[in-house]
Amino acid sequence: MRPLPDGGGRYPAPVQLTNRRNTSAAARAARDFLAIEGLPVSELRALLDSAERLLPAAMGDAQPERHLQGKVVANLFFEDSTRTRVSFEIAAKRLGAEVVNLGASGSSASKGESLVDTARNIEAMGVDAIVVRTSISGGALLVSQHVGCPVINAGDGRHEHPTQALLDMLSLRLRLGDLAGKRLAIVGDIANSRVARSAAHAAVALGAEVIIVGPPSLVPAGFDSIAKGSGKITITHDLDSILGHIDAIMMLRIQTERAAGNGIAPDYRRAYGLTVERRAKLRPRTPILHPGPVNRGVEIDDAVADDAVDSVILAQVSCGVAARMAVLVRAIAS
Ligand code: CP
Repeated sequence: MRPLPDGGGRYPAPVQLTNRRNTSAAARAARDFLAIEGLPVSELRALLDSAERLLPAAMGDAQPERHLQGKVVANLFFEDSTRTRVSFEIAAKRLGAEVVNLGASGSSASKGESLVDTARNIEAMGVDAIVVRTSISGGALLVSQHVGCPVINAGDGRHEHPTQALLDMLSLRLRLGDLAGKRLAIVGDIANSRVARSAAHAAVALGAEVIIVGPPSLVPAGFDSIAKGSGKITITHDLDSILGHIDAIMMLRIQTERAAGNGIAPDYRRAYGLTVERRAKLRPRTPILHPGPVNRGVEIDDAVADDAVDSVILAQVSCGVAARMAVLVRAIAS
C-alpha cells in the first residue's frame, strides 16, 4: 500500500500517484495482465505452472501462502459476471488480500462518471491492484494508462479475456498434457467472443492447432491471421466435418448482449449445437469446454454439458480460481 504523503499540516497533501509515464513499459508489462496477444510464451507457461501449483490451495485442500497479506484488490466490474468476479474475490482472499467490489449499478458510473475517473478515484484510496471488466474493447489498457497500480483485464468488450484463456489452457493441460500438436475446436459466436480471441492466442502460442467453427455471420474474416506462433488456425462452417478429428472442443454461447445472432437462434442448435448425437461422433474422452454462462439446449445439450467424464465445464471454473491467484501473485506479490 502506498504510504500517505506527509502534508506537514492538518490535512495530507494531495496523493502523488505513480506516474505511468515514468514507469518503463517493461516494468508495467511485468505486472499488468491485459491480453494474451503479445505475452511471451515463457510468461504464459510460467503462469500456467504457477496456477497448477496453486490449484490445491485454490480448492481449499492446502493452506495457501498469504502472498498478498495486507494488500487490497479492487474488483471494478462494469459488466455482469458470476465466475470471473467471484473467482477473483476468492483468489485474492485465499492469498490474504482484502477485496472491494464495485459495479456499474450502485457506483457513480450510473451518474456518468467515466471508467478512467472511477479507476483513478479507487486508486487514490490506496488499492494495490485493479481488476476491471468493461464492455469497452481496450478498456483495460485505457485504465492501465491512467493509474499507477497493476491492472488486470477481466474481460474487455470483444477484445480479450486473458485470465479465461489461462484457465482454459490449464484445464486442457490437466486433461491432455502438453498441448503442442493438439487440435482444439472453438465453436460458436467467434465474432463477439473475447474468450475465443484469448484462447486462440494462447493455444497457438502453446503449439496447438485451432479450428474455428461457426456460421459465416459469426466468424470474422481474417480471424486465422491470429496464428503467428508455432500452431495454426483454420476456419470451417461445417461442425460435423471435424468432430472425429479433434482433441478438445470449446462451445460458446451467442452473445445476444452484443446484438449477435439476430434471427439465427432457431436454426443454431441444428447446425452448431453440441447435441447428444454429435457428441457420440467425438473421439472417446474428448474434453468438452464452455466458459459459461451456458445456454442449455442452444449451443450444448443438457446431457453433454453435465457429462461426468468428458464435460470439464466445472473443472474450468475451479481452475479459474488458481489462474487468478497466479495472476494476482504476479501483479502484486514481492
Ligand atoms: N466465463 C466468464 O467470463 O463468465 P462470467 O461472465 O460469469 O464472469
